[in-house]
Amino acid sequence: MSECGCNQVVEDAEDLAKKERLESLFEQWRGADGALIPILQGAQEIYGYLPKEILLKIGRQLKLPASRVFGVTTFYAQFHLHPRGRNIARVCLGTACHVRGGAEIFERMKQEIGVNDGETTPDLRYTLETVACLGCCGLSPVIMINGEAYGRLVPDGLKEIVDQYQ
Ligand code: FES
Repeated sequence: MSECGCNQVVEDAEDLAKKERLESLFEQWRGADGALIPILQGAQEIYGYLPKEILLKIGRQLKLPASRVFGVTTFYAQFHLHPRGRNIARVCLGTACHVRGGAEIFERMKQEIGVNDGETTPDLRYTLETVACLGCCGLSPVIMINGEAYGRLVPDGLKEIVDQYQ
């Protein structure tokens, strides 16, 4: 850990910038109907996920009970209550990928990244997810990292792909 306190200063400045962005988001939606979802989307863009204290703050701001804010957040798959990785790896387990070895690809991806489905590495390098189809079945088996599709995969080829993303 740095003894000069520089890291702390940077973190404080980042926190302050996020807080200001959240305040302007509140301002933008002040008094508007149906503001909850766009505010949740905006807050997730700012923080990368939706920390509990931010959800409570949103509830206070919109004068909504916490149960409603948490209910909406957990209902929609687009919202995340825990920090996400810098890189999102999606492994397809749909039918076309399954019949061409999708399960083996998934097993190797778990080994390469070191987490299970839906989990994030402690260093926030990767979040691993499974999906039912990535829309490119002709390339099966397929994975996608940060929106980039990799197809016709074999387990031994995965390390090279995974290593490209830091
Ligand atoms: S089933 Fe895997 S891409 Fe469609």
